[in-house]
Amino acid sequence: MRGLFITLEGVDGAGKSSHVEWLAAHFRSLGRSVLFTREPGGTPLGEKLRDIVLHDAMHPETEALIMFAARREHVEQVIHPALARGEVVISDRFTDASFAYQCGGRGLPEARLEILENWVHGDLQPDLTLLFDVPGEIAQARLAAAREPDRFERERMDFHSRVREAYLRRAMRYPNRIRVIDGSRTLDEVRAQLAVTLEPW
Ligand code: TYD
Repeated sequence: MRGLFITLEGVDGAGKSSHVEWLAAHFRSLGRSVLFTREPGGTPLGEKLRDIVLHDAMHPETEALIMFAARREHVEQVIHPALARGEVVISDRFTDASFAYQCGGRGLPEARLEILENWVHGDLQPDLTLLFDVPGEIAQARLAAAREPDRFERERMDFHSRVREAYLRRAMRYPNRIRVIDGSRTLDEVRAQLAVTLEPW
């Protein structure tokens, strides 16, 4: 069976984590093996890099380079092998997050990241990206109720608005791959949207 690469994206507080279990169960019920992973992270080295990039102050380009360094390990050690085994790989974030946060949020030129993208995974793109979209006020309210914020979650509202807009621009640019899910609805309503979106898969 052909491997399937699915990524979950959205601003902080969009609610993607709430649906991970349901997504995994959906594919298992179709007889598929599911591997769930995340970025930044997904490998022992990647998790160390995650800790650094979420907590230490740094130049925006350093931030982008660390995201892609962690991704290089992740693609090589985890994603490629699992896809070769025919598994469904579900990654909580991938390169769309770099374009949204480091370009949209921090203002880095997209051309720079395109070079890194080609370098790190020129031969690999997600088959499907679920973009959980919520208005800024809802995302902020959810974050305020959650645990200690990291460097990204502490950013101001205008940063998160730029991230959201950058995600939505990518969804317009890649309409076949990126499906926008209205994350402001109830859990059941979001699940119903997911079920419809996943039907062809
Ligand atoms: P996230 O999955 O939201 O972690 P958690 O739900 O545990 O807070 O990801 C951590 C942060 O990393 C998130 O704010 C977005 C940011 N990020 C980037 O800025 N660029 C990237 O390329 C990736 C993968 C994540």
